[in-house]
Order: sequence, then structure tokens, then C-alpha cells
Amino acid sequence: LTLGVLTSGGDAPGMNAAIWAAARLAAVEGETLLGIRRGWAGLLEGDAVPVDPDVADRFARRGGTWLGTARLADFPSHLERVVASVRGLGLDGLFVLGGGGSLSAAGLLSRQGIAVAGVAATIDNDVAETELTIGFDTALQTAVAMADRLRDTAEAMPRLFALETLGGDTSYLAEAVARISGADLLLAREVPVDPEVAATALRAVLERRGHALMVASESYPDGAGVMAAISQLCGMRLRLTRLGHAQRGGDASPRDRALAIASAEAAVTLLGRREGGLVAVRGGRIVIDDLPTKPTLPPFPAGWRGLV
Ligand code: F6P
Repeated sequence: LTLGVLTSGGDAPGMNAAIWAAARLAAVEGETLLGIRRGWAGLLEGDAVPVDPDVADRFARRGGTWLGTARLADFPSHLERVVASVRGLGLDGLFVLGGGGSLSAAGLLSRQGIAVAGVAATIDNDVAETELTIGFDTALQTAVAMADRLRDTAEAMPRLFALETLGGDTSYLAEAVARISGADLLLAREVPVDPEVAATALRAVLERRGHALMVASESYPDGAGVMAAISQLCGMRLRLTRLGHAQRGGDASPRDRALAIASAEAAVTLLGRREGGLVAVRGGRIVIDDLPTKPTLPPFPAGWRGLV
């Protein structure tokens, strides 16, 4: 068989480990694996290279994706050409790594009679069908390490700090960072706060301990303005750190690599049987489900025990 692999949307640490694991298993099974460059956009142009497991191995531990990635707007309008490209490259199956949008695109493609296996890979951990997305653990580790550093300096020179995380339109990443780093306040789009209530709570912490830490998701509406208002109400200047895309890079954590390897092997096994589906995690185990055709968000965790 000839299989294809592509990475789509925001890159996530662990994508390279998944490409390598897919190449290794494909080689063992006697299948050819083509790496599609720049996600769906590259597939439209038939931009593919054979993936040698030993070449893929050199990238396996690194962040990003050596195949490159892209965002393709309005996938349904390209569907017919994508199907033609898959057939033109002689692909018997396609392995897609990406977030909710990319997996829905994979779902639409699979409804055209093409074997597609999808695995959720995004630092945002915002795909309803799976408990854990590839890249989340590494991004969490990076952000928690940064929060810990902020607290070192906050303890030395007491002040009001804020750390802004990525997360796209959602705050699953920010919530986990806030919970694990022991932040005092979370600014999550899903659970908006009243700046007055937040400031009253933070003032109490500042009086007691001298320093306080807010964690904000980039998705928080007018986050900078709200944080500025809170700082003014607290009567203390704010020190804001924006992690931005630095949070998306970096070598994948062992947990992300383990998830990437297990998921990629499950995906190649499915495609080897000319089947497709979504390789997901439920109850900590790998399961196979139908690919979605539209992105759905998981419920927002109820575990936050911060101030407000
Ligand atoms: O969806 C993944 C993600 O990293 C989000 O956390 C972030 O908001 C977005 O991608 C950034 O996208 P881009 O790299 O296109 O600016």
C-alpha cells in the first residue's frame, strides 16, 4: 500500500515523533509512506516526498513538524480537488495530524470513500472526542516552568504578575497552567470574571503575601484591558509576560512522544487494513472512533480552585 501523512494547523510538539513512528511501522509492514508538505495546502499541490524512517528519526525528538504545516480556509470548497490529489498521488490511505478543524476536514474527506486516520495534535487540548491531544503536555510543562520562574522573582520582590498562554479560542491550556502552578486568578473566556470581584480577592492575597499571579488565556476578551483594570483596582502595577508562540515550540515531552508513537502506530494499523477513523484517548487508553465532521469542544474543567 501507499500511505500519506500530513500535519495541519498549528504545529504541536510530538508531531515529528508521530511521523517517525508511522514511517517505522509502515516500513516494517512493507508499505510506502509519503510525507505531504504544508498540510492540506501541500496536498492540493501534490507536494509529497517519500518518508525514510531514518530521516524521520532525526526529527523525532524535536518540536514543530519537519513536513511543515499550514491553515487552509474553507476546506469544503477544496474537497473535490483534495480527493483528486489523493488519487493522483496513488494514496491508499491518509494519516492526518492536527486540531479540531483539521480532523473535521479529515472526516469530510473520509466521507468521500478515502481511508483517513486522524489523530488530535494541538497544544490547545480542545478536541471533544479525546481526553488528550499531542503537544498539550509539552506546552503545559513549558508554561508551568515559566509560571514557577515568575513566582521566584515575585517572592523576591513582591508584585502583581500575569502570565498569558496560547490556547486559540479556548482556555483549556490556561486552566491547566493556572491549576498546576497554583495561580491566584484565572482569566478564561469560558468563565468570565468581574474585575471588581477579582481585584478584591487579589488585594487580600497581596496584603497577606505581597505577590499574586494571574494566568490568562489569549482568548480572554480584551484580556490586556481587563488585566490593566484589575491592576489599577489593586493599586499595583502589573508585570505581564506573554508566552506567545514560544510555548508552541520545544522538544516533545516523553508523555507526548509516547502518545504520538502509540497513536501513529494505531493509525497506520488502521490504514493497513484499508480502514480509517479517529484515534483517540478515553480513560487513558487508545480507542478508535468515527472522525468528526465539525469541531466540538470538550466540557470546560470544573477543577479550578483559584480565587474567583
Ligand atoms: O491552535 C493552536 C495554536 O497554537 C493556538 O494556541 C494559537 O492561538 C494559534 O495556534 C496561533 O496560530 P498561528 O500560529 O496561526 O498564529
